[in-house]
Amino acid sequence: MFKKAQISAQTHLYRSGEPFKTGAVILDLSKVNFQDSPRIPYFEIETNDKETNLIYKMQEDDVVYGLGETLGALNKRGKIYQFYATDDPLHTPDKKALYGSHPFMILDGEKSFGLFIDYPSEIIFDIGFTHKDYIKITIFSKDLDIYLFECDEKLTIIKEYFALTGKPYIPPKWAFGFQQSRWSYFSEEEVRYVANKYRELDIPLDVIYTDIDYMDGYKVFTINRETFPNYEGMVKDLAQKGIKVIPIIDPGVKIEEGYHVYEEGKMNKYFCVDKNREDFVAAVWPGLTHFPDFLNSDVRKWWGRQYKIFTDMGIKGVWNDMNEPSIFYTPTRVQKLFESLEKAKVEENELGQKLSLIQEAIKNIPNNREDYKSFYHKLDDGTLINHDLVHNLYGLKMTEAASEALKTLLPNERPLLLSRSSYPGLHRMASIWMGDNMSWWEHMLVNIRLLQSLNMMGFFYTGADIGGFGGDASPELVIRWMQLGVFNPFYRNHAALNTRPQEPWQFDEESLNIMRDTVRLRYALLPYTYSEYMNSVKESEPFIKPLSFVFDGKKEKDIEDQFMYGNSLMVAPVHEQNKKGRYVYLPDVKWLNWTATKFEERNMTVYKPGDYYIEAELSQIPLFIKENNLLVLTEPMNYVGEKEITELWIVGLVTSQAVYTYYDDDGLTYNFAKGEFGHLKIEILKESNDFKVQVEKEDPKNMIKVNKIHFEIYDESGNVVKKDMII
Ligand code: GLC
Repeated sequence: MFKKAQISAQTHLYRSGEPFKTGAVILDLSKVNFQDSPRIPYFEIETNDKETNLIYKMQEDDVVYGLGETLGALNKRGKIYQFYATDDPLHTPDKKALYGSHPFMILDGEKSFGLFIDYPSEIIFDIGFTHKDYIKITIFSKDLDIYLFECDEKLTIIKEYFALTGKPYIPPKWAFGFQQSRWSYFSEEEVRYVANKYRELDIPLDVIYTDIDYMDGYKVFTINRETFPNYEGMVKDLAQKGIKVIPIIDPGVKIEEGYHVYEEGKMNKYFCVDKNREDFVAAVWPGLTHFPDFLNSDVRKWWGRQYKIFTDMGIKGVWNDMNEPSIFYTPTRVQKLFESLEKAKVEENELGQKLSLIQEAIKNIPNNREDYKSFYHKLDDGTLINHDLVHNLYGLKMTEAASEALKTLLPNERPLLLSRSSYPGLHRMASIWMGDNMSWWEHMLVNIRLLQSLNMMGFFYTGADIGGFGGDASPELVIRWMQLGVFNPFYRNHAALNTRPQEPWQFDEESLNIMRDTVRLRYALLPYTYSEYMNSVKESEPFIKPLSFVFDGKKEKDIEDQFMYGNSLMVAPVHEQNKKGRYVYLPDVKWLNWTATKFEERNMTVYKPGDYYIEAELSQIPLFIKENNLLVLTEPMNYVGEKEITELWIVGLVTSQAVYTYYDDDGLTYNFAKGEFGHLKIEILKESNDFKVQVEKEDPKNMIKVNKIHFEIYDESGNVVKKDMII
């Protein structure tokens, strides 16, 4: 039986049993009034002791959006999705679960509504897979909260969702710069070399990561002094060059006597325990480890304090990884493997049988559900809870530990905070990248889809490993992915150990030159990206949107490899091998096409709505500026903040009137929340063969340093009028 409570005019909560308080919702629910509710609108409910099923009959044209970090099309119909945080390094199309758990869906059709299930363990969404017309959602419990957003508009559903779970994370402005990483920068020397190479080759760079190789024996919060003798010196030297160093942090604490994190955790009982109340043992990178019990607030505080070794060095962010938590194996599982091997040896088994017994036993070793069921968390009130019941919260709670600590360690500074695993609520304090993809063309399309569906969940600041993480990348793939990366708010080239190096200079001269221009283009877009990002957060509207969120129409619903980046720009990346162009659909209005190679070259063409084949050589990215909307550019720099932004280039196709509100603030602190930001309201009015400009500055705290604006305004025939203005 459900109880119902009104949350807002359009949002209702349906509660069954006694749900676990996940922390996803920011509203205080202790005071809401519940009434008994026999039913939930739209859904048939089937319950028994173990599970709750919600069933919905879809209409033929219904589109299902959302579900965050899942594979498959943007329209989620026709697939089964499992929410149970999983470290799966091979994102093949058949996979049901990835690192995050985002049980929020939007139904767009004759009826429209949103549904968020706040439940931290396994949920299955069967969206028209078993039966093409039915959604069947299975929650393996009867203790859960269901939020139903009854709004007609997709964007209103998302606004309501953010009102409930909080607004998206705002990174520092430099986090919009380009970032480089690789698992296997084995030494300080190598990290310095890579950073310096960027400067030498005039390729902009803001951040370089140190992966697990910087640690001593993969022990979290340690530094290998043989290979990184002066990590802090490296941080300082690179900071001088405008490059930030971000370390990876893994949750598993190596079991090693004398190692301070292990000793402190053990002494204070800060680790998850097994059924005998012994510290639970699982293997990750360092070998056998214990898992900190992040569901406990004392543990979060203790863990948070550890980050001080980094912030003392001048580090401004962290990259939390492996926090599903990933398990390579447990002693129990290995024991079971040996038993299976014994069984396989039995004489009467034929060879094939022996082999499949062995294969099966090995396959079941990592991330085994039985292992997740075999450990416990101790909550603040002393109760023990089985990990499996709260599995999807581990990454959220680890990241909360970091976020809370960084508020004290870096007072009033916005950190760059990333997590691999996530649950709703994490989007308020940090963001996620898309995990271990491969250097496959197919994974560029996954990247494009995830940008859109993660934005719906509030993960605005997200992106994939550019160039692909696993496998070897061709120069063409890296170039095309670097181009798509310009439109990944989190723009980081990252690759795995033993793969072909994929920094821009690892190929040929031509590839290097293209990649330089591409990264510089990202920096040219900085004023636009930052303005639009801040505005999206303020408006509670996704920063990256599918076309169907902006334009009505049937065709728009089918297009998933073109997307709106902010409100003025539509991006149509080339994401297939050997393609010298691509088909593009231009909805509803006229568009100013910029098939961009570099900031300095702007050859624009005007298109009417319709279908086109747009040519795009290897160095070119098809971009489209929406009619009567404006793009704001500046001259690229080597890193964000290297120079003040004093000149802007405003580019657009204006057939009547265009208004752009350019936003800026200090880019580093939270003072914007106290009103320390400025606006330039730029208005362009079309006049026969000319245009009139009006610029209003609202900038009490002197945040905007722009003193010159170059206008490049096109008319419907593609004629341009250029004007400069001193302000
Ligand atoms: C995980 C991460 C990856 C990282 C690797 C080594 O696979 O997802 O980004 O490079 O671990 O730390």
